[in-house]
Amino acid sequence: MSGVKERIDDLRRRKAQAEAGGGQKRIAAQHARGKMTARERIEQLLDEDSFVEVDGLVEHRCRDFDMDRNVIPGDGVVCGHGTIDGKTVYCFAQDFTVYGGSLGEMHGLKICKILDMALKTGAPVIGLNDSGGARIQEGVASLGSYAEIFFRNVRASGVIPQISVIMGPCAGGAVYSPAITDFVVMVDQTAHMFITGPEVIKTVTNEEVSFEDLGGASTHATRSGVTHFTADNDDDALELVRELVAMLPQNNLEKPPIKSTSDPLDRDCETLDELIPNDSTTPYDILDAIEATLDDAAFLEVQADFAGNIVVGFGRLGGHTIGVVANQPKVLAGCLDIDASVKAARFVRFCDAFNVPLLTFVDVPGFLPGASQEWGGIIRHGAKLLYAYAEATVPKLTVITRKAYGGAYDVMSSKHIRGDYNIAWPSAQLAVMGAEGAVQIIHRRRIGSAGDQEGERKRLIDDYEETFANPYRAASLGYLDDVIQPRETRAKLTKALGALLEKEEIRPARKHGNIPL
Ligand code: HXC
Repeated sequence: MSGVKERIDDLRRRKAQAEAGGGQKRIAAQHARGKMTARERIEQLLDEDSFVEVDGLVEHRCRDFDMDRNVIPGDGVVCGHGTIDGKTVYCFAQDFTVYGGSLGEMHGLKICKILDMALKTGAPVIGLNDSGGARIQEGVASLGSYAEIFFRNVRASGVIPQISVIMGPCAGGAVYSPAITDFVVMVDQTAHMFITGPEVIKTVTNEEVSFEDLGGASTHATRSGVTHFTADNDDDALELVRELVAMLPQNNLEKPPIKSTSDPLDRDCETLDELIPNDSTTPYDILDAIEATLDDAAFLEVQADFAGNIVVGFGRLGGHTIGVVANQPKVLAGCLDIDASVKAARFVRFCDAFNVPLLTFVDVPGFLPGASQEWGGIIRHGAKLLYAYAEATVPKLTVITRKAYGGAYDVMSSKHIRGDYNIAWPSAQLAVMGAEGAVQIIHRRRIGSAGDQEGERKRLIDDYEETFANPYRAASLGYLDDVIQPRETRAKLTKALGALLEKEEIRPARKHGNIPL
């Protein structure tokens, strides 16, 4: 029997072997690609010296393809927990130097254990993905472990925040774990996500497309909307995750953390008085309104490069994390289309699930007209946003800056779908549609029979604008709680939020709703 020294030496040897991963040559190759190793990434993500590894000695059980002669402790994924800003998080990092980070049975079960622990303890989970996908040698056992992960991602959805960082390949069905999680961060150039790769696409459809065009960070940030954040490199991605986690609660039973601010709660937003152009068709940047309102003008925009006609993201108001949704008049005049509706709906649902109050800035001429929108299903996609706002029970603050026309008025956190504090600037226009369109429809005959058709049309437009292009009809009906001077926006919102923080709203019990997917 070996003595104490031998046993400890043996332990050290095993741990060193696990820490060496796929060996120096593969680590050098990883670095040469501008990528950190799994352990370096975890060190960077977590507070210093906070990482506690679990399952570092787990090994695969595969006996096919000579795999029994190639066993690396840890099985290609580093798992454990640590802290970010002192708060517990669970994390896993796939190690591309070990079997290409591919996911076999035990590798998958290690991730499952992390997800189970995170759910049991009510802590966020962060997955650092860098993998060739299902471990081919392990066949269906690998697929089984994937499905075990997917099941847990779904079970944890809306209970703990789940964040996926894609830092290398993520292919085939492997993309579905990140897709289910709340936020996807992709590293530019090194991350790729796709269901079928360029070679298969070429065989099946004869299309030629590069890795980067098919599934790079830029593609998923601008075209597909799969990714929420793009990072320049590993470092940048991990810093972004820390920033995001700092704004979120640990789980759905907690409120988001409060960060004290030196920005006065009643600060005048002088610039907002001049923000809205006199001509109601001239665009302006809604980010100016958002930044002027938030603490220290700090706004973490989500999906900044996708569906630019709606802006979503996180900020703080009086120290409280809030989710901001805003029509962007600079893009498509701020119209709601399919992509904007889906982007905002998912964001609203995240905020509602995790007790993050919502602040909505409205300047929306309506849903985007067009056959492609209709055929693409704007009816059911637009309904998602309506559904998300209507089901949300977190405090809902709404500021109408200019247009709030038609169905889009109802959808954008209106009083009728239970906005809690709905205010407008004097430039607001709450109406079924804009003056020109309305006059054309209701006065077509009158204009046609007038001697001076252009003069009559102009007079009727002026008349319509006088009657409807203002916030006062809505205010007289109680659809607006107040009309304020734009510079008062921050002061009014911080007070309203303060009063709403303990809001409780109970909805009928049900298994789950049936959002129009
Ligand atoms: C086992 C794998 C692997 C895999 C890579 N490796 N992918 N081992 N199963 N899926 C191994 C390689 O053999 C190699 O081992 C090492 O990882 C590095 O791979 P390279 O090819 O040398 O690296 P690179 O040139 O950077 O290419 C990376 C890659 C490529 C793009 C990921 O390896 C690749 O295309 N792999 C297959 C991807 C794939 O089709 N996966 C299945 C997708 S379907 P050595 O020993 O030489 O270092 C799927 C279904 C999931 O995942 C279903 C869930 C429901």
